[in-house]
Amino acid sequence: MCIVDKFKLSQIELRQIAADCCRQIECGANGQPSCFKMLQSYLPLPTGKEVGRYIALDFGGTNMRALLVELNGGAHISIIKSVAHKIPVQLMKSNANAQQLFEVIAMMVAKVATEQGGYPLAHTFSFPVSQINANQGVLVEWTKEFATAGVVGQCVNTLLEQALLLLGMDNIRPVVLLSDTVATLLAAAYTDSNTLIGSICGTGHNTAFYDRNHNMIINLESGNFNFMPSNEYDLQLDAASSNPGRQRLEKMVAGRYLGELFRLALARADFSEPFALDTQLLSDIISGQDIRFSVAERELAVSIVQRAASLVGASYAGVLLYLNVDKEQLCSIAVDGSLYEKMPLYAQGIQSTLDILCGERAKYIRVFAENRGSSVGAAVAAALVEIAAQGKERPC
Ligand code: GLC
Repeated sequence: MCIVDKFKLSQIELRQIAADCCRQIECGANGQPSCFKMLQSYLPLPTGKEVGRYIALDFGGTNMRALLVELNGGAHISIIKSVAHKIPVQLMKSNANAQQLFEVIAMMVAKVATEQGGYPLAHTFSFPVSQINANQGVLVEWTKEFATAGVVGQCVNTLLEQALLLLGMDNIRPVVLLSDTVATLLAAAYTDSNTLIGSICGTGHNTAFYDRNHNMIINLESGNFNFMPSNEYDLQLDAASSNPGRQRLEKMVAGRYLGELFRLALARADFSEPFALDTQLLSDIISGQDIRFSVAERELAVSIVQRAASLVGASYAGVLLYLNVDKEQLCSIAVDGSLYEKMPLYAQGIQSTLDILCGERAKYIRVFAENRGSSVGAAVAAALVEIAAQGKERPC
């Protein structure tokens, strides 16, 4: 079999992946063993009328940002201040500790907090967190090759609060901790009430959905899905990763890994160093901006990206099967992340897989880019928590 064919998936396989994804969600929902963590967000859908000023902190896979956001209902949103930095690579390693990491985060928050301060803070933290309420939760495990010591098993917003206090910011109050998938869903649902699914296709991959039975958004941690065929390069990548056997879907579809998968399949002596090729390179090769690679090598890059997009599309089809929405009900899927926005063939591949797997139903499904999760989505989450805490009636 040629290398490119090892990255091809048949329609039958994609259908099976969607069915397995649905079945795994059912298992998780019924308390049976599942590859999905099904983490509760303790957040419902917004009405679109939530208002207020909030600090939004975003700690993702590659970048971190802090913003001061004002919600005025519907499309009336202002970003008053914003700072962003790359997460320093040395802070992701096991010889860095929680205190060092959260000090850097708190220093960034300080840059958007005004002298009057006092704004509630929403923390979008893009890793698996097991929550006991909307504001408190412990990091279950690191993903995306993070390994900072002293964070797993700890209450994430307590670490943040301690770091804020050490910098004298006792007027900044974390009120909500949420996944980037949940934030993406909330940002889209703030203006489009048909949004039932939020997903990230960036450095990492994950999906959340609205569970109408419990009136709560559930974070699947779908990067850990593992019911799909894998080839020898997937196995090599997994074995050399920081978490072998885990996050198998993520390792086939996400930005942290696609360049490495390409490098392993390419097997060129001049690229012998692990992670020597990044995912941006795949984008440049496919779009014809990098012409150092042969036609066959370009074809390999294309097949890796197409497989990634099909797997993501099949997983969305699985979530839709589980949601079992009425046949002609509109359903929006909001997606954020650099791969969805920028990688050639990626968004298109997700859509065409959904078209194939959902048949007639596909015309009622809208997949679209939503990149305001960590700003608007986070602020909406804080507003929802504030409303619940004040025992106020939600605006109707
Ligand atoms: C990883 C994290 C998950 C996050 C996703 C996208 O899969 O475990 O929590 O949502 O990356 O950033």
